[in-house]
Amino acid sequence: MIAIPDASAAMTLPRHHFPIDLSSGESGGGLTIADDHVLRRLPAAPWKTVRPLIESMVAEGHLPDLIPWSEVASDGDWIQLRHPRVRVISYPHEWCAEMLQEAALAHGRLLAAVAKGGMALKDAHPWNVLFDGTRPVFIDIGSIVPLAALAELDYLKDARTRSGPVLAGDVFELMFLPYFLLPLAFHRVGLGQIARRMLWRYPLNGAERYPRVADFLREAGPRQWLRAIDGVRHAAKASVHLRTLCTNLERSGTLDVFADGLAELVGELSPPRQRSAYSGYYAAKGEAQALDRPETWNAKQLAVHAVLDRPEISTVLDIACNTGWYSRLAARLGKHVTAIDIDDACVADLCHSAGAAGEAIVPLVADLTQPTPDRQRHPCGGLLLIGSECRLRADAVLALGILHHLVLGAGIPLTDALQRLARPAIQSLLVEYVGLDDELVMKEPEFFAAYSRNPRDFAGFTLKAVIDALAAMGWQVGVAPSFPPTRSLLSCKRAAGGTHSA
Ligand SMILES: C[S@@+](CC[C@H](N)C(=O)[O-])C[C@H]1O[C@@H](n2cnc3c(N)ncnc32)[C@H](O)[C@@H]1O
Repeated sequence: MIAIPDASAAMTLPRHHFPIDLSSGESGGGLTIADDHVLRRLPAAPWKTVRPLIESMVAEGHLPDLIPWSEVASDGDWIQLRHPRVRVISYPHEWCAEMLQEAALAHGRLLAAVAKGGMALKDAHPWNVLFDGTRPVFIDIGSIVPLAALAELDYLKDARTRSGPVLAGDVFELMFLPYFLLPLAFHRVGLGQIARRMLWRYPLNGAERYPRVADFLREAGPRQWLRAIDGVRHAAKASVHLRTLCTNLERSGTLDVFADGLAELVGELSPPRQRSAYSGYYAAKGEAQALDRPETWNAKQLAVHAVLDRPEISTVLDIACNTGWYSRLAARLGKHVTAIDIDDACVADLCHSAGAAGEAIVPLVADLTQPTPDRQRHPCGGLLLIGSECRLRADAVLALGILHHLVLGAGIPLTDALQRLARPAIQSLLVEYVGLDDELVMKEPEFFAAYSRNPRDFAGFTLKAVIDALAAMGWQVGVAPSFPPTRSLLSCKRAAGGTHSA
């Protein structure tokens, strides 16, 4: 079971590097994502009309959620804009409910603001938002168009016979309902997993159609049926509420009232604070020390601090972050952190604490055993969504308290598990080793499914085997005690001459 790799098994690297070209729905349009900026090619016609209006609104502070831009080229029918790169590219299937709700509220704010200048949004879906820490940023400036331009949209029914404000409402009925309200309704009843799965399966422009209530319902197992029915009830109520807002819009034509109504509607779908078996992990382990009292920290906390407190580390990926003690430690050292965990209650907790403290942490729900691959545009192809292993790379990767879950729990061969942890690491990797003699593993072997099925297969899961495997993958490995002291921290740097060009 424990496979020791040879040197040729070195790293399997993510397939592509930035800059990455994403395909565009508009022929001639396009997006190039580079390391520190993004270039967007837009049709000149609507942009030239909206640009002065947007500029004056930004100057007056009315568009706080909009990505900054500068115009860098213009060639007749097209212009090119340059945006600063929002560091972490995340997608809605990775967000906790709170982030999806924030992205929805940002749409309402944006619509209310641009409506004052006779503009509207031609899209209303979460792939137009990224997160800077826990703050939503609306990235698709080309979605802001003059009201009159909505009549040209081929995806709105009766576009040519209906008026601008009414069509602005139609956009929300078409997209906001399946991509925000339906998932929020399922998040609200504790079925966030289903919401995320649907957002992954039916991304805008990546599937043949939008998701429907029946798709959500079909995903529920027998033990989830009651909650799923409750989710459908919330979704139906939200749908009626949105229809009412649209009807009122047809009568009055006032988009700011419509946008206020959206905020209220999204507020009704607020997710409850969740708890999971992992929510109290740090308190239970005696590791919930105050982040600003280093004199109280244990050996693991001190060692991780020492590894991160280096100027060459600017970005950190905290794998299996739980409620984020180490992510927050990194953020307080001035690092830009992406924090991932499979447990959405823990990620939501971190979202609250990082948001309240204004820390540069993007918390995401992700299963390390199932990284999301690249997605192609439907039906014609072209890169639509970038796979997680490429997107989440960072100078330093923290893989604390997770290797034993992958090997002893999920039964992933050691080399494979280490490669998954190491793949996003550009310079440094910190892996915690928890062995078979660990108190937790000895007391609760049933917690580790693969190990309890066949304990003999795991006799080779030793500290030496892990160090050897990391060395064979091209890492220089230093060992320090962790907490409790039966656990070890393997601080890894790329060996001289070792490359990681991805
Ligand atoms: C023992 S805790 C470690 C927390 C933190 N890294 C630390 O050392 O303080 C293990 C964490 O791994 C997460 N986890 C387990 N399997 C995972 C997976 N396949 N993908 C992502 N996270 C996972 C759990 O939800 C839990 O929060």
